[in-house]
Amino acid sequence: MIGRVILVIAVWAVAIRAQSEVDDVEDHSTVGYSNDTHEDAKLDAPGLISKYGYPVETHRVITSDGYILTAHRIPHGKYKNNEPGPRPVVFLMHGLMCSSADFIVLGPGSALSYLLAEEGYDVWMGNARGNFYSRNHTTLNPDTDRKFWRFSWEHIGLYDLPAFIDYIIYITGESKMHYIGHSQGGTVFLVLNSLKPEYNDKFISFQGLAPAAYFTHSENEKRDHLARYIHIIEPIFFKLTKGELTNSTQIKKMLDIICRNESILDTKCVETVVRILSPDVAVLNQTMLPVFLSHTPAGASIRQYTHYAQSINRNTFARFNYGPLINLILYKSDIPPEFDVSKITVPAYLYYGMSDHAVNYRDTFKLGSMLGNTIETIKIERETVNHFDFIWGTHAKTEIYDTVFDRMKKAPEHEKRYQLT
Ligand SMILES: *[C@@H]1O[C@H](CO)[C@@H](O)[C@H](O)[C@H]1NC(C)=O
Ligand SMILES: *[C@@H]1O[C@H](CO)[C@@H](O)[C@H](O)[C@H]1NC(C)=O
Ligand SMILES: *[C@@H]1O[C@H](CO)[C@@H](O)[C@H](O)[C@H]1NC(C)=O
Ligand SMILES: *[C@@H]1O[C@H](CO)[C@@H](O)[C@H](O)[C@H]1NC(C)=O
Ligand SMILES: *[C@@H]1O[C@H](CO)[C@@H](O)[C@H](O)[C@H]1NC(C)=O
Repeated sequence: MIGRVILVIAVWAVAIRAQSEVDDVEDHSTVGYSNDTHEDAKLDAPGLISKYGYPVETHRVITSDGYILTAHRIPHGKYKNNEPGPRPVVFLMHGLMCSSADFIVLGPGSALSYLLAEEGYDVWMGNARGNFYSRNHTTLNPDTDRKFWRFSWEHIGLYDLPAFIDYIIYITGESKMHYIGHSQGGTVFLVLNSLKPEYNDKFISFQGLAPAAYFTHSENEKRDHLARYIHIIEPIFFKLTKGELTNSTQIKKMLDIICRNESILDTKCVETVVRILSPDVAVLNQTMLPVFLSHTPAGASIRQYTHYAQSINRNTFARFNYGPLINLILYKSDIPPEFDVSKITVPAYLYYGMSDHAVNYRDTFKLGSMLGNTIETIKIERETVNHFDFIWGTHAKTEIYDTVFDRMKKAPEHEKRYQLT
């Protein structure tokens, strides 16, 4: 039972729900992808970036509550805009169970971070507490201290983001930056700027790729059903795993048992397992699966799921529910207060796919209608675009990223700062 729940949650994180793209016959001449998937599956994010000849830096940042986090930076491009020097800054934040690798695994010519560097940006990628790159603390040990894992995405928004943002401003001297967040990467932006509205001033634009906030129109019955049992699931996880959820080491172990040694590199086996666990799953470029699955899942706390489950169960986007007594002490109210997203005044561009089973497009509209300064809510044209097309999609550049670059340049503050004519 527990094993099944772990698997279901793991698959929820890695599965792609969409129509099969097997018969896809479009032109791929402009895309790079990986020239050796087995090699790329074994490299970490900075290893990948330097393999493909891009400049890369690793930065450590410490939060005010002691978490030691890692940011990866591609300071400039390789082919275009390839001289070091000041330039507009963009900060990218990954989704649940993911990492900075999300923005590079598609490879040069295709992945968001390389493209942004070529477009002339100084590209910074965060890693949330608890993931592969940010699994450390000044006093707590993630392997032995349960306390390390008692955080939800509220803490990521409230502590991790300010640590990254302030650090980047300090290092680059740029007082404002663009923000791109996928899924939970959008959630934490909303948390930060509603609870600490003074941070609104530090952003030129918010590019929300399927940002997760409301689940009012969710049609994901399996997940929403599972959410109702979170009060049973969370304590079990804290007992068994201290609260840490499947990271790639554990997934690899699981696949090694089901398939055979080094099975993460065996595309056919991985695909079969994914299909058995979730029959409605269709995977994007199957050749790339070993690369995608060796970087995802990258680890998280069960409490991040708990907080989303609370959002689903209570149909609110609110602070973490600790129970009436602790709520009263923390929030001076027995029910957790909602995040006041009307306080978010950063020009917001929200993107949605019509076949996204994690964030329903109607909930993206809902978010757009509630934010303080939504400029545009943008549909990704193909009807089968799902939650993972934003990071793993074969056509992500032409379908999504080119639009994002256009909107970044059109953000009022960007024009004022960088396009003086
Ligand atoms: C899938 O990825 C492989 C490996 O990087 C690449 O050679 C191939 O062109 C990609 N296929 C499609 C349909 O884009
Ligand atoms: C893959 O690309 C990298 C960077 O361009 C290059 O150094 C490496 O030799 C290539 N590997 C193969 C197998 O072509
Ligand atoms: C995954 O979690 C295990 C503990 O369950 C830990 O020993 C291992 O270092 C973690 N791996 C990564 C890549 O974070
Ligand atoms: C974790 O941080 C401590 C400093 O608090 C450092 O000594 C240690 O090497 C770090 N561990 C890892 C795995 O980076
Ligand atoms: C899997 O293969 C690696 C080398 O490729 C080896 O070091 C390891 O012991 C093997 N594990 C098992 C369980 O056979």
